[in-house]
Amino acid sequence: MINKCLFPAAGYGTRFLPATKAMPKEMLPVLTKPLIQYGVEEAMKAGITTMAIVTGRGKRAIEDHFDVSYELEHQIRGTEKEKMLADIRDVIDVCTFSYTRQREMKGLGHAILTGETLIGDESFAVVLADDLCINKEKGVLSQMVELFKKYRCCIVAIEEVDATETEKYGIIDGEEIKKNIFRVSNMVEKPLPSEAATNLAIIGRYILTPDIFDILRETEPGKGGEIQITDALLQLAKAGKVIAYKFEGIRYDCGSIDGYVRATVELYNLEQEKKGSSCA
Ligand code: G1P
Repeated sequence: MINKCLFPAAGYGTRFLPATKAMPKEMLPVLTKPLIQYGVEEAMKAGITTMAIVTGRGKRAIEDHFDVSYELEHQIRGTEKEKMLADIRDVIDVCTFSYTRQREMKGLGHAILTGETLIGDESFAVVLADDLCINKEKGVLSQMVELFKKYRCCIVAIEEVDATETEKYGIIDGEEIKKNIFRVSNMVEKPLPSEAATNLAIIGRYILTPDIFDILRETEPGKGGEIQITDALLQLAKAGKVIAYKFEGIRYDCGSIDGYVRATVELYNLEQEKKGSSCA
């Protein structure tokens, strides 16, 4: 029912310069896997097989990553190293990838609107690869797709953040209609702590209905002079058509050095635990 996942991936990643000077930030690895592959695998686990990626200049490595590398395959065939390609081979076998370019950086809302040509007239998921979400049992997108079956409206994933950090996120307000599920009545992009109604922050997972595209076309630039998805969603929220979901799992903000290092260390420890338990 949700068949497509959009990945806005045109941003410059200036917080990781110089690493991101010639390499897309979505290709930064946590352990041996690039960030965007975690997002694609999460979407795949939610039953989504069509990946729509909004790229920009200097992002060719993403396309090459989700393609067969014949020379490499040839080189390592029959060696121990072959198993290191198992996950990416699965992804390439099961999913299709399509790309479009965002020519100007006019914000997340604009990036999503740029993806309309790949999505068409159907509901779709959005993953911001910077937000690496881990849940061993059920991925965040899987949880959200299940909710979508029930509510059939836009869904944003949220988590509680420190009250001093509201300026980094879209912040929602609303009524908790069921445990961890809110009917959104208001949402504001990056409010000052003194102006934030709550500390419930939107993280980089959305399910959007296709009417969002018409709204985005009419959305004026907001915070930072950019077209904000939060502002467009507010239109739908006013009509009671946005749900916020406090997801189960851990989110690492891999758009920041702190979050990126934390993800690396914690995922490494998890891997070691797994190895330990499989030897025991
Ligand atoms: C974007 C959204 C913001 C959201 C955040 C989640 O901001 O505009 O509402 O809370 O992603 O990561 P960005 O991090 O691109 O500045």
